[in-house]
Amino acid sequence: MSKVNVAIVGATGAVGTKILEKLLERNFPSSSIKLLASKRSVGNEIVAGGQQFIVEETVPESFDGVDIAFFSAGGNISKMFAEEAVKRGAVVIDNTSAFRMSETIPLVVPEVNLDALREHKGIIANPNCSTIQMVAALEPIREKFGLNRIIVSTYQAVSGAGVEAIDELESQSKQFENRESIDAKILPSAGGERHYPIAYNVIPQIDSFDSSGYTLEELKMINETKKIFGLKDLKVSATCIRIPVVSGHSESIYIEIDKEGVTVEELRETLVGVPGIVIQDDITTQSYPMPLFAEGKDEVFVGRLRKDPDHPAGFHLWVVSDNLLKGAALNSVQIAESLVELKTF
Ligand code: A2P
Repeated sequence: MSKVNVAIVGATGAVGTKILEKLLERNFPSSSIKLLASKRSVGNEIVAGGQQFIVEETVPESFDGVDIAFFSAGGNISKMFAEEAVKRGAVVIDNTSAFRMSETIPLVVPEVNLDALREHKGIIANPNCSTIQMVAALEPIREKFGLNRIIVSTYQAVSGAGVEAIDELESQSKQFENRESIDAKILPSAGGERHYPIAYNVIPQIDSFDSSGYTLEELKMINETKKIFGLKDLKVSATCIRIPVVSGHSESIYIEIDKEGVTVEELRETLVGVPGIVIQDDITTQSYPMPLFAEGKDEVFVGRLRKDPDHPAGFHLWVVSDNLLKGAALNSVQIAESLVELKTF
């Protein structure tokens, strides 16, 4: 297998650090790994897998000689450097929303639409964290029974908003317990006009609002799901909520499949033994997925499977996964592994 020169842009961030960990843990065939971030982090030392790495500033020349560049430093940085990286010979795996809906850029969850990778032109988009775990859980169901409608409500961890949001939850929790006034500067949206405490609270806004009344996060889930499944007419709606959990997104998902009369047992059967999916669904032992137990794990956990009482093709599921892993770093590294296997870089 050929050896790959790798760069990680945003290597000091919540997702970037996990990309490095996953590359090392999964023995990705890299010959070098370059850690890139902003000027602020130049010279910082990062130790992972027993190796020492020194962070460099992201500049156009950083991508000379790089074969695969992971981007996880926000959409603006991707827009600034991704095409430059491609010009200099790298294939970019982008974790931001900068290119996801571009028609010529594949949006890939390897278990669902690996074939889309074959058509890449230098940039490959990694979907939104909430989208990835949902489509991974629903793909075996879609394949067997077809999908007509999805209505999802998410319960999303703060790490999806980066390291600063994790710090904010921790400091606000201390302020709350010490009965001090609570300082809110990051959530719901760092660039937004108003900020609300996330500690001991629930915020029904992730990212900014569109004129439709949906948030951009909700629109990402809606549009990305249709693109990944290749189903333009799939009915999808989403409500995205931030909750005071560090890592692990949870989702209450209602689906209508194309076939009536399917039982819960038949639906569950489609998920048994699927790589990357773990069924935790036994009410007699109170077994169901929870973010605290999904944190640090690679799989997508599925439980609380129920038939809708009123719709003959309607079902409910509860799906939990570590948003920094399958929702971001792991999926990106799986895309890179697929590129190496398919020899398409
Ligand atoms: P830095 O630590 O130097 O600011 P998170 O998603 O956890 O908030 O992390 C954001 C990541 O994006 C960090 O690694 C951060 O690096 C990086 N980043 C922010 N601004 C820039 C920039 N101008 N150039 C390159 N990387 C950046």
